[in-house]
Amino acid sequence: MTESIIIGGGSGMGLALARTLVAEGMDVAIVGRSADRLAKAKEELEGAGHGRIDTIAADLGREEDIAELFDKVGRVEHVVVTAADATGVYGRTTDVPTATARTVVDTKLLGAWLIGKYAAGRVTGSITYTSGINAYRPNGSNTIMAAANGALASLAYGLAIELAPVRVNVVSPGWVDTPIWDQLGMDKQAAFTELAARLPARRIGTPDDIAQAFLSVMRNGFITGTVLHVDGGHRIT
Ligand SMILES: NC(=O)c1ccc[n+]([C@@H]2O[C@H](COP(=O)([O-])OP(=O)(O)OC[C@H]3O[C@@H](n4cnc5c(N)ncnc54)[C@H](OP(=O)(O)O)[C@@H]3O)[C@@H](O)[C@H]2O)c1
Repeated sequence: MTESIIIGGGSGMGLALARTLVAEGMDVAIVGRSADRLAKAKEELEGAGHGRIDTIAADLGREEDIAELFDKVGRVEHVVVTAADATGVYGRTTDVPTATARTVVDTKLLGAWLIGKYAAGRVTGSITYTSGINAYRPNGSNTIMAAANGALASLAYGLAIELAPVRVNVVSPGWVDTPIWDQLGMDKQAAFTELAARLPARRIGTPDDIAQAFLSVMRNGFITGTVLHVDGGHRIT
């Protein structure tokens, strides 16, 4: 049995989680669209520990890919979903193409639902989704992503009841320095410096901050139907 599947595990927070699990000797399957990205991640992970690493190319937005993914993996203890593509989504609602908004909903929300649908009966421990601070602190430039992130909480509550005793949770990160920022076409460092000065934590998050949060909800058998905010205090600023 595969111990954990990380959909989005080829980079950022998902890769940080994979690194920690492999270092502990756990078997991990990392999933993403780009076989190249997965191969590079696998190469990096092979130096991290003695757990087995599988790579599976699949698109969270395609039902046939998700069905095939769970056919391939069979029984699995934990499923973590970090996948998201932010290309073109940041901008005012009047400026964001409807096709882009549909892609966000198709992957981040409907894709998450597909994970529940096809993991059912195969996952034995937990499913953890990743939402984000924009669901709780809208800034006028990412409304469709914020809406999809916000809806993940309701999805997790519903699935936590349906799939019990499998536990279903959401981790909601604040700003974290990962490759997703390269898709946004902004001065990342300036934005990070400005926010870090205002955050109670006085810094931007690291992928490992979020990996540790995933581990907490995966391993604590009494956490289900919960959104865990890991945002340096962003929601209360
Ligand atoms: N970084 C932040 O500041 C921040 C803040 C709040 C919330 N979040 C959320 O945190 C999660 C993790 O993001 P990250 O920062 O770690 O970003 P990241 O490094 O860009 O990781 C996202 C991963 O998802 C994969 N992916 C994207 N679309 C996919 C699809 N349709 N099907 C399968 N895999 C897909 C990507 O690989 P491929 O391109 O190869 O598919 C990539 O490896 C996301 O859900 C994001 O919305 C991030």
